[in-house]
Amino acid sequence: MRVVFLGPPASGKGTQAAILCERYGIPKISTGDSLRAARAQGTPLGREAETYMSAGKLVPDAVVIGLVAERLKQPDAAKGFILDGFPRTVPQAEALAALLAASGTPLDVALQLDVTRDLLMERATLRRTDKRTGQIYHLKYSPPPPDAELEHRADDREETVAKRLDEYDAMTAALLPYYTNLKLLRRVDGVGTPAQITERIIQALTI
Ligand code: AP5
Repeated sequence: MRVVFLGPPASGKGTQAAILCERYGIPKISTGDSLRAARAQGTPLGREAETYMSAGKLVPDAVVIGLVAERLKQPDAAKGFILDGFPRTVPQAEALAALLAASGTPLDVALQLDVTRDLLMERATLRRTDKRTGQIYHLKYSPPPPDAELEHRADDREETVAKRLDEYDAMTAALLPYYTNLKLLRRVDGVGTPAQITERIIQALTI
């Protein structure tokens, strides 16, 4: 199964990708996680990415395409993957198509999670992540256990979330007609409990 998860910031891509990758035994490839790891390690890539991420902007295409191209070469990606947060622009989608065509393993589905803007803002600003395990929590909807070591992402402050949502509308929404034309797009209502959404996604993937 080769799937990309589309959807605006905080629509639940990471939460659902983690559940489904575990279920199907395939890797979750998240450009956001990779960029945050590079930033935490202080690598040149991480320092470059930081400028864009803290402003709520997309990191340049060449940077993320290079990251994904390297990751897809790893043996575990041969049996399938969920790409969480990539592609986010038409040039990224075209680069992905070229990479997959070169290995004769085309994309199966582009799955869009639909969530209203008000709810996205609430999901992002109250998100917390356990820095030891990477587990994603929400202070209202998915409260962390008392021993979690919680982190609040710097780009989850309200002003930056608003910029990320605008960037999504300006750059990433164009992927919906792109994947519709390729007959790969499946849309799922992303409002409900995580378990309900998992069921909807599984149904959408098996149609
Ligand atoms: P990235 O990390 O990819 O962020 P994002 O797309 O903005 O997505 P999020 O991680 O914010 O949210 P999500 O959809 O995964 O939701 P989650 O499951 O956590 O990217 C960060 C930055 O990196 C970008 O701004 C950009 O700068 C850069 N970048 C990354 N990829 C790039 C690319 N391809 N090109 C260029 N730049 C790139 O859920 C959110 C919250 O809601 C959590 O608290 C969760 O617990 C809660 N929640 C989840 N599901 C539910 C539910 N059903 N009900 C209630 N709460 C829920």
